Amino acid sequence: MTPPPALVAALERAGQQHLLAFWERLDETAQQTFAAQLEAVDWHVLQEMHRLAAGGGHSRDLSVDLSTAVTPACLRLGDPTNRISPADARHRGAEALKAGAVGAILVAGGQATRLGCSGPKGVSRVGPVSQATLFEILLGKLVAVRRRYGRDVPLAIMTSSATDAETREFLAQHAYCGLDPERVIVFRQHDLPAIDATTGRLLLDGPGHLAIAPDGHGGMLVALAEAGGLEWFGNQGVEHIVSFQVDNPLAMPLAAEFLGYHLLTNADFSTQVVRKQAPEERVGVVVACEGRHSVVEYSDLPTALAAERLPDGQLRFHAGSIAVHAFAKRFLDRAAGRHDSLPLHLAFKAVPFLDSEGTRIVPASPNAIKFERFIFDLMPLAERVCVVEIEASEGFAPLKNPPGSASDAVEHVRAALVAHARRVLAKAGVTLADGVHVELAANRIIDETDVADLSIAGTVIERPIVVGG
Ligand code: UTP
Repeated sequence: MTPPPALVAALERAGQQHLLAFWERLDETAQQTFAAQLEAVDWHVLQEMHRLAAGGGHSRDLSVDLSTAVTPACLRLGDPTNRISPADARHRGAEALKAGAVGAILVAGGQATRLGCSGPKGVSRVGPVSQATLFEILLGKLVAVRRRYGRDVPLAIMTSSATDAETREFLAQHAYCGLDPERVIVFRQHDLPAIDATTGRLLLDGPGHLAIAPDGHGGMLVALAEAGGLEWFGNQGVEHIVSFQVDNPLAMPLAAEFLGYHLLTNADFSTQVVRKQAPEERVGVVVACEGRHSVVEYSDLPTALAAERLPDGQLRFHAGSIAVHAFAKRFLDRAAGRHDSLPLHLAFKAVPFLDSEGTRIVPASPNAIKFERFIFDLMPLAERVCVVEIEASEGFAPLKNPPGSASDAVEHVRAALVAHARRVLAKAGVTLADGVHVELAANRIIDETDVADLSIAGTVIERPIVVGG
């Protein structure tokens, strides 16, 4: 067939006619699929991409004056000197969980390029004893919360074109890891095309396929709203929503104390941070400037500022973001109604493409610009932000890199899970033989209180075991 005339006209208006160069090579089914992909391109977003690529700035001003910015005051998990006591916070957070007022979003749409897996990172096996997958561990945590507080935490899982089918298949095969399927929705984020860094043209990665990538974890806002997810949460009585990432099996987004601080400070947006010790740690930092909070990505923090220390020796910008957030639902509802809530960010990447002869080129250096939205860009829109510092050893062990890497590889994740389990068990009065690998059953044990229920205080663990499993 010939290409639909309306599509040809749209491509001509946008200066992207080259995309049809190999149309004749496609069979009719491939032509239909390709036409649908091209028709779905949002040309307004493409204009925003071109403006940004030309140095035109973000669609909403995200600039932060780093010369005057400071690290905001943080509450610290478990610190009795906080202005709100940990006990009060735990009580308030538990009340909200018992009332069923808390929902969760798990972002699992990333392409895991560093890890190098094709498909969802959530199926990676990180359990040090059980070999449980990230999905089983993270969804298991919601099962443990239901067991303790008696109410489900409705869960929305964000996937992308890179992860959707396999994630759905995994959930079906694993009976939603023990969650009620009625209380889980899966929604898919959008893709954004990559553009040639020199010409601004969209790139083809096949004769009938654009080079595309998921639109960043910030894609969650629009995609959730479009899927009816905000209404779905609201219909179940959810007033606060936590979000967390699929690569961090130590994440504790539903810790009652964290939720309690969020609620008792009446925050629109709360976030967990870990104290950055060394300037080169690759995490964004939470900063405050003129009464507004933001996250500054590590790539945007000049080296000298990243290394600057306060008189007491700690880094001036030390509130390392770990992407565990809590939002008032009314805040997300408002943000979803604004067209400019989450501006695009750009990154130069090496993106394989078809040249004008149709030969596939795999570039060795960046040739293209990819675009993403970040959920933390909602932070400056919040009237009240609550920053809660946690110990990295208690809540942050991301899987980012392939085995053998210097950091964030599966062996580091497993070691962090074992160390955490050993500490929890020791607090509960369990003795462990030196070096023995232990794991806490994620769907059973939140902390040492659940270990007490197992009546194993005073016992000695000498062999690898999943406690509570
Ligand atoms: P990262 O930015 O670390 O990306 O995502 P990634 O896909 O895991 O790994 P790389 O950068 O390609 O190596 C942090 C979290 O945000 C989610 C990821 O699934 C992960 O949970 N994410 C990222 C999305 O859900 N969608 C995206 O478009 C990007």
